[in-house]
Formats: sequence, structure tokens, C-alpha cells
Amino acid sequence: MMRTHYCGQLNETLADQEVTLCGWVHRRRDHGGVIFLDIRDREGLAQVVFDPDREETFALADRVRSEYVVKVRGKVRLRPAGAVNPNMASGAIEVLGYELEVLNQAETPPFPLDEYSDVGEETRLRYRFIDLRRPEMAAKLKLRSRITSSIRRYLDDNGFLDVETPILTRATPEGARDYLVPSRTHPGSFFALPQSPQLFKQLLMVSGFDRYYQIAKCFRDEDLRADRQPEFTQIDIETSFLDEQDIMGLTEGMIRGLFKEVLDVELGDFPHMSFEEAMRRYGSDKPDLRNPLELVDVADQLTEVDFKVFSGPASDPKGRVAALRVPGGAAMPRKQIDDYTKFVGIYGAKGLAYIKVNERAKGVEGLQSPIVKFIPEANLEIILDRVGAVDGDIVFFGADKAKIVSEALGALRIRLGHDLELLTCEWAPLWVVDFPMFEENDDGSLSALHHPFTAPKCTPEELQANPGAALSRAYDMVLNGTELGGGSIRIHRKEMQQTVFDILGISAEEQQEKFGFLLDALKYGAPPHGGLAFGLDRLVMLVTGAQSIREVIAFPKTQSAACVMTQAPGAVDAKALRELNIRLREQPKVE
Ligand code: AMO
Ligand code: AMP
Repeated sequence: MMRTHYCGQLNETLADQEVTLCGWVHRRRDHGGVIFLDIRDREGLAQVVFDPDREETFALADRVRSEYVVKVRGKVRLRPAGAVNPNMASGAIEVLGYELEVLNQAETPPFPLDEYSDVGEETRLRYRFIDLRRPEMAAKLKLRSRITSSIRRYLDDNGFLDVETPILTRATPEGARDYLVPSRTHPGSFFALPQSPQLFKQLLMVSGFDRYYQIAKCFRDEDLRADRQPEFTQIDIETSFLDEQDIMGLTEGMIRGLFKEVLDVELGDFPHMSFEEAMRRYGSDKPDLRNPLELVDVADQLTEVDFKVFSGPASDPKGRVAALRVPGGAAMPRKQIDDYTKFVGIYGAKGLAYIKVNERAKGVEGLQSPIVKFIPEANLEIILDRVGAVDGDIVFFGADKAKIVSEALGALRIRLGHDLELLTCEWAPLWVVDFPMFEENDDGSLSALHHPFTAPKCTPEELQANPGAALSRAYDMVLNGTELGGGSIRIHRKEMQQTVFDILGISAEEQQEKFGFLLDALKYGAPPHGGLAFGLDRLVMLVTGAQSIREVIAFPKTQSAACVMTQAPGAVDAKALRELNIRLREQPKVE
């Protein structure tokens, strides 16, 4: 072994000891005849001093440049009182360099690592191997590794078996587009990369493995956002003979233990909230409970008003009229309100009505608003009482289809929470439960809200009779407004599975063609089972406070789902395409 210690591990207890370090030259300084090299490795930095006494070593230290790979032998000594650097883990000591060996040279890096510099993400990703040398990036990957190791320990201790499932497989429906891989041996046929190991983990339960987990790669060809990647990692879990309370308890214990271990944070017991309540109060099925603002329904007061924008949705069973009170918001300038109006427009809202409450005691005179003229004073008073309006507040209103109002005011609520710095605590976990089984598409057909293998809370007959009203045995874990994970108790009887497929409009032939193996498995002694999957990348993002999912993945894809470092996806030569029986419709342009 070349090194005796990592740079970041050196401290006062090693004073007067000889050490050998291996790492990169982070910074080189020339100070009145002595040369300082800061050496960096994955654990941190150490300052090495070279005196002119050792001529050869000194001359070599003078020639090394940033990012050279070096090996240094020297002696640890305490720094003089004035030279202690509290920003460095090893800042109380330095190493007096005896020997220096250059293991490899480096060209000037494309961006400096020894000082903060605002480098474009494209450049960082193109040279990711250098970007990952930056201590803050290394810290995130190290924390990610601690998280997976804590999770493995917890699951191992609780009797879970780690089983791998295939990457080359059939479509596993989770609602996104598939990544397809052409088969050479079956011309014209394609594998799909798994969107999750969902069906395989259910089959493992049928096989009797009872408690399964896997840190699994999943692939989804969907529009990317700050918290989505086409290739991401799940902590995937499945169990037999446990009900939803057991599974929520087990996995909540895992997350609680993890937060205690890596952040020393006590999350406490997670509250449970129904989907209906979450949508009603927060306009979202993943509410950020750090934010104190709430939506309040006011449609009942507005069915008769002489203002179509309100009375229409107020009388429509699929409509919603909701209010959002912002304490102290009456001081908001017009421009700010216009900005928020534009913002809710992104979610389809056609406007953003408001009432500024200047002085409630004065009645209508004390209110400032483009809409109070349409609302009878009695109704107005009820609305203001219901939202708890006091002098100095602003109350926003949304009126439209329920989905639009919930999304628009839900998003506005989050935005206001950040803009006005309203968050009341650092961590707010919860379980969202009692999801509907299905959601209605624009054409009136139904889609599974979770996935089609989720069990309903009712019998097949009740489900068939009124699918729109059925609730599922699904649960989502939400932390600070992010869906960390989701799962459900599964269907373990063939008749129920076929009923759900029927409701989703999947014909008997298609059921057999796509899911025949699952229907078979359900015939041969499938135990009651259920599980859940966490998004590992999102979990690491939250724990590290990273703004983008790309910051916690070693080699992520860009927004356009490409890798700028390896230039993937790339062209394929004609021979390979011929072997795969593929002819391109259009030749890609040759530059
Ligand atoms: P679901 O589709 O909800 O459930 O996924 C589980 C969790 O995975 C994370 N996630 C993602 N993370 C990054 N990029 C993405 N594109 C992405 N998509 C999802 C989220 C999400 O909560 N098989 C079911 C789980 C089950 O029922 O057991 C499933 O995949 O954090
Ligand atoms: P208008 O009658 O279009 O001038 O709108 C009067 C007020 O109602 C304005 O403040 C609009 O922003 C607001 N408004 C218009 N449509 C909606 C809607 N669908 N939901 C909430 N407010 C709206």
C-alpha cells in the first residue's frame, strides 16, 4: 500500500509521526522561500511544507502544478498558533515534506478546483471525472454510500433477502414510456428496460421469499424535471403476509433510523393523511407540511353570485372554488400579484382573484378587491370568517375544474411559502393514504392511479359497479413536499386482477399476451403481499439539500436525456443495424 493516511484524517494526535500521503495537488503557494502544497484526496486536504534544505525535493515541489498526482512522505507537526486553519479538517497540523514523487502529470484542468468558480453544468458533466474531485461533490457521493449502507443494514437485520431481477425484460407498466432494446436473435422483437422490478418482486413473493429488497436501477423515458432522471435508483421492497400498517411501520422505521444516523435528526412518528384531505387542504397529494398555508373551499357561498367565473365552477360537481389566505399579504404590491397571476397560469388557471383585507371592521369599505362587488356582503363575511382573515391579510381565489384549482393554488402555496419564508420547521414527513383506485382521463376512460396491480379496498363486484369511487390500499411517503416512495398491498387473486384489467380497458387477449405469466402465478398459490419503493436519488437529494437530482448521481443524464461525457446515445454502424434487422427511416445527418 502506498499511503499510510488519507489527507483529511491527519490531526494533532499524529504530531511527530511520519506519514505517506497520496493525492492530487490542490493548490501550490510560494511563500518567502518555502513551498506549500495542499494535497487533496477523497477525505480532504492536508498542507505540506517543503523547505529549501532538501534541495532536490524542493526543486521538484517547485515544478508540480495543479492536479498532478503525487506521493509525499513527511512528518506531521503542529502549526504555529497563528497559522491554524479552522476551515480544514487537518487545519491544526501540517506535514513537513521529506520526499515527493510525481506519480502522474496533469494538464491545466478545464475549470479550477482550488477556488469556487461558476462553471456551466454542461462543462461539469463533460468532465465529470474532474467535477467529482470537488470536495462538495465527493461529500454527496460519500453520503449516498452511507445511506445505502444504512438501508442495507436495516433490511438485512429485518430478514430481507437481496435478490436481483432482470434488466432485459418486458414492459413493466408504471405510466412512463419504455426504453426498448432490439433483439438480434428474435428479429423485429424488443426487450424493454424495467420501469421498476414490480412484477418480478411480486413473483418472488409467489415463490415464497417473503421479504425481498433490491437497490434497483429503473428506466423511464419521460419528460425530465429537477427531481427526475431517465435512469434512477429505487430501494425496492416487497413482503408477504403483512398489511399496510405493518409495511408502513417497517419502512418508516428505516427512514427514521437513517435520519438519526446520518443527520442526527429525530423525525418522530409520521402522521397519516387521506388523499382527499391532502387535496382539499393543500391541493396536492404530496403536501409540504412545513408550509402553514391552506386551501379553504368556498364554493357553497358562491353558487348564486353574479360572476360567472365563480358561480360556474361553484355549481359544477367537477368544479372547485377555493381560497388561500396569506397572513400579512395585503402589503403586496400590484406587480407581485400580477406575477403570481402569471405563475398560476402555468397550471391552467385563467386568473387569480384576490381580496386585500385592510380593515375588516369597515365592512366592504375596508376591502380592496376586483371581485367583492359581485359577492353579497353576508357571503363575503362567511368566506372571510372561514379562512380566518384578519386585517393585513390577502386572500387569493381560484375557480375552475377541481384539478386546475388544486394544482394552481397548491403550487402558489408552495411558491408563497418560499417567497415569504413561511416554513415552520425543517422536516415534515407524512404518509398519504386512501388514494382512489383510478383517475379519469380526458376521454372518460380510466387509468390506474398507482399501477394496475394495486389492491382495492372493496370486492371485485363493488369495484366493477363503481370504479370511480373505489379507494386503493396504496400509500405514499412524502417528505417536505417530495414523494419519497410509494407502494401498496397487491392484488393476489386472479379474478380481482382480471377485473382491474377489464376496467382499464385491457382486452382478455391483451391481458394474456402482456400479463399471462402474472395471471398464471396468481393461480398457483399467491400469498397476500405488498411492498413499496423509495426513490434513492430523491432521498439523497433531500438529505444533502441538493437542488437537482443530477448533483447526487455520479454520472447523470442531461435534461435532454443524454450523457455529454460519453456522447451517449450515439450512432450505430450499418453492420450492427443489419444484424438487428433495423433500417432507419431517416439517415441521421452527417456533419
Ligand atoms: P413509483 O412509480 O411511485 O412506484 O416509484 C417509486 C419512487 O421512485 C421515485 N421515482 C423517480 N426518481 C427519479 N427519477 C424518476 N424518473 C422517478 N420516477 C419515480 C420516486 C417514487 O416515489 N413499483 C412501484 C412501487 C411499488 O408499488 O412498490 C413504483 O415504481 O421517489
Ligand atoms: P375579470 O372579470 O376577468 O377582470 O376578472 C376579475 C378578477 O377575477 C381578476 O382578478 C382575475 O384575475 C380573476 N379571475 C378570472 N378568472 C379567474 C379564475 N378562473 N379563478 C380565479 N380568479 C379568476
